[in-house]
Amino acid sequence: MVDVLNQTTYVLDPLSIDELTEAVRILREDGIGKDRYLFTQVELAEPPKAAVLAVENGSSAGLPRVAKAVIIDRVEHRSDEYFVSLDEGTVIDRKRIETGQPTFTMPEIFSIESVLRDDPRFQAAMARRGVTDMSLIWVDPWSTGDYGDETEYAGRRYVRGLVWVMDGAGDDNGYAHPVENLAVLFDLNTQEILRIDDFDPVVPVPQKRGNYRPEDVGELRTDLRPLDITQPEGASFEVDGSLVTWQNWRLRVAFSPREGLVLRTVGWDDGQRVRSILYRGALSEMVVPYGDPALIHARKNTFDVGELNLGALANSLTLGCDCLGEIYYFDAALVDAHGDPYVLKNAICMHEEDFGVLWRHFNWRTGKTEIRRSRRLVVSSFSTIGNYDYGFFWYFYQDGNIECEVKLTGILSTGAIEPGQTPVHGQLLNETGLYGPIHQHFFNFRLDLDIDGLTNSIIEEHGEADPPGPGNPVRSAFRNVKTVLKTEHEAQQLVDPLRGRTWKVINPDVTNGIGEPVGYRLVPSGNVGSFSGADSSIARRATFITKHLWVTPQTDGEIFAAGDYPNQHPGGGGLPAYTAQNRSIEDTDIVVWYTLGSHHQPRPEDWPVMPVAYARFMLMPSGFFDQNPALDLPEPVAHKNGHHCCS
Ligand code: CO
Repeated sequence: MVDVLNQTTYVLDPLSIDELTEAVRILREDGIGKDRYLFTQVELAEPPKAAVLAVENGSSAGLPRVAKAVIIDRVEHRSDEYFVSLDEGTVIDRKRIETGQPTFTMPEIFSIESVLRDDPRFQAAMARRGVTDMSLIWVDPWSTGDYGDETEYAGRRYVRGLVWVMDGAGDDNGYAHPVENLAVLFDLNTQEILRIDDFDPVVPVPQKRGNYRPEDVGELRTDLRPLDITQPEGASFEVDGSLVTWQNWRLRVAFSPREGLVLRTVGWDDGQRVRSILYRGALSEMVVPYGDPALIHARKNTFDVGELNLGALANSLTLGCDCLGEIYYFDAALVDAHGDPYVLKNAICMHEEDFGVLWRHFNWRTGKTEIRRSRRLVVSSFSTIGNYDYGFFWYFYQDGNIECEVKLTGILSTGAIEPGQTPVHGQLLNETGLYGPIHQHFFNFRLDLDIDGLTNSIIEEHGEADPPGPGNPVRSAFRNVKTVLKTEHEAQQLVDPLRGRTWKVINPDVTNGIGEPVGYRLVPSGNVGSFSGADSSIARRATFITKHLWVTPQTDGEIFAAGDYPNQHPGGGGLPAYTAQNRSIEDTDIVVWYTLGSHHQPRPEDWPVMPVAYARFMLMPSGFFDQNPALDLPEPVAHKNGHHCCS
């Protein structure tokens, strides 16, 4: 049997820089010229899961490496998926994208500003607002969505440009000076301005600056003494290619231009074997619906994965700033819009963190204390999408917990209101009419859980009070009620924190020492519902935000919660389409899709740059082990004197 968890090169490893170079060379030979075409992504075409498992169980020697490229033809106004066999050196398949548009590319995004700055109609609109220096203009591209009322642009690839203006050249934060009631529809292929929406009234551009660099904020604090993380013997993890070994954990770290950080084959080594837990875990889609009905804010909602290629917008992380301590960095190999492969250095950061007390007890009869400290492995990545920065953090704990945390920071997407007025759908940020419109951030994580094997089921659990009666003598009895969710429709559920609702993925074929099926529990930790009406465009296009839990039988190609190409898509793609047949999800290989929402009514303190807000959930062993799996942790050592500190 081939032990996939111990191979240096894994069949699902991302394409290397050499493989990407070769894929582009083959595409060029096939006629994909330099200027006419834009590459939105090139990445490994994931082989079917069954084929990967066949390699794992030794019944197959290996798999062909196939690149999938998504390419825009700017002359023919069409987009296609190309499948390139790296073994055969040929394009083996090509599929036209019929509905929706591929993600935006950087050259397209940069083109808007330069075209608008030279356009007399746009200059006139800006002059109405007292702005004449076009070099100070920022135009952020926002996806247009699909509201059914722009049919004259059908077939075009276009964006809605929203406008900000810097207060003087240089590093001024343009988001402090939003241009209200102005939006521009722009064709990315033809570079044409389709329409300028210049609504009345003209709202004054807020004037107060919102800069946050050291030179802008006045005197800096001087009372911080150094806080260094030192690991004199190095970190406790080992890395071999994409494989990470840390404590009992085994996992593979991968990266996708669309999803960013991707975790694969996460398992727990119990000394006898590696027990599978998470076959594949990644952000599948995210969307930020704005609740402000004002003319240019009502249609603000971007799908940062499927419309903007969140992975390709990952930052190169810096030691001491993004990550502190003994760091291991994974690089990502990507292809830019012109088809040039490049390496994004330090795309993923991995390190260990002390996380306080894992377990303790002071025996007050004997005076003895046992304490074990918790340490967690952190695998993380940050992407900047326009004004916002999102951190995606996966934590692995010594007690078997896996936590997923999103860090939300960056700069609010602002609006302007007549000075002296107060916005109903937002928060005033200063006295010159700057405000932050209310919005929500929804993240959908696709979790292909394989708990101790492929045959899994999912159980909903919540607390209920017992009815009055002889069995409930003081009316305080309550219990947990468990229901097996048998179909895709039964599994479309909302969080219910007042009743302590969790969902547990079990393997009915594998029992623990207590004789119960082994399992892992999905534990929500703060969430919010969507306020978008059931008949709204956003609910149709981002249906995943209408439920927190979705479960599907694992099916190759079902990867994205809002479908493959949500950009300009009318809706219905992804989870609503996947679950339309209401397939069985019992005793089979299942995928859990969890929608995590963060409600954002901006605060003055979120300006001019937002302190990190957190959204998270936990995957927690629940009968996966027979008892606390972290009893074998050594006692902590107080390093100053080398003694155990608590005995
Ligand atoms: Co926000």
